[in-house]
Amino acid sequence: MPTIVGLAGSPSMPSRTCGLVRTVIDRIAAKTGAKTRLVDLAELVPDLGIRGRADASPRLEEALAAIEGAGLLIVGAPVYKGSYPGLFKHLIDLLEYPCLVRTPVGLLATGGSDRHALVVEYQLRPLFAFFGAKTLATAVFVPDKAIHNGWVVDEPCGARLSQMIAEAVHELKALRAGPPRRRVRAGLPDPWGGRRRCERGEASHGKSGFRHGSPRRLKRPRDGRAPSPPGTP
Ligand SMILES: Cc1cc2nc3c(=O)[nH]c(=O)nc-3n(C[C@H](O)[C@H](O)[C@H](O)COP(=O)(O)O)c2cc1C
Repeated sequence: MPTIVGLAGSPSMPSRTCGLVRTVIDRIAAKTGAKTRLVDLAELVPDLGIRGRADASPRLEEALAAIEGAGLLIVGAPVYKGSYPGLFKHLIDLLEYPCLVRTPVGLLATGGSDRHALVVEYQLRPLFAFFGAKTLATAVFVPDKAIHNGWVVDEPCGARLSQMIAEAVHELKALRAGPPRRRVRAGLPDPWGGRRRCERGEASHGKSGFRHGSPRRLKRPRDGRAPSPPGTP
């Protein structure tokens, strides 16, 4: 049975975001019977001053492994200076790249001002797109004034949240009904590997006729000359 993991991305304690994430994962669990696990960034703050995964404390390592093993991930982050908190990003930077490929991920953000409501679309969604995660169509921003004891008291916000929960339940049921998900941990191209090659000036046309970072096959002229890059007259 896939586990629902909630990642509450606020360094504060107590935290509105944490209450909201807990409510959402409990509501999904009530509809599916799946197990839940909450990872609270606030509890991990003392463990996060590290350079890399190799230095992770057992508590942090266990939390990272829980996120990586999630069947469904619900991520909530407060808006800090128009984005997610730096410590939240540091936690995410410690995840192994292929672990979230095709994992359904629900996105939530809390903030003091509606002006930053699109943080879910412009900051959180691209972050999880990097991981190849399957972000749920409905992402929800909840302003402070709409949260009370972890519950959303504003009707339009509550309706969006219910929509997101319905999408999450659908994903979990599909996961349960389908064949075991093949997690391709090895052999996946690293999303930044190609760029690094380009930065080192190695974005050349290899023997294969493929250009690094481009899916387009180059046409090899009949006379056996080397293929020309696209756009070459
Ligand atoms: C350092 C800091 C920066 C913040 N920056 C913003 C901001 O740019 N936009 C916004 O709408 N709210 C901002 N807020 C308000 C928080 O996003 C908001 O109160 C949120 O609900 C806090 O969540 P928490 O209780 O889970 O920590 C900021 C709060 C802090 C502490």
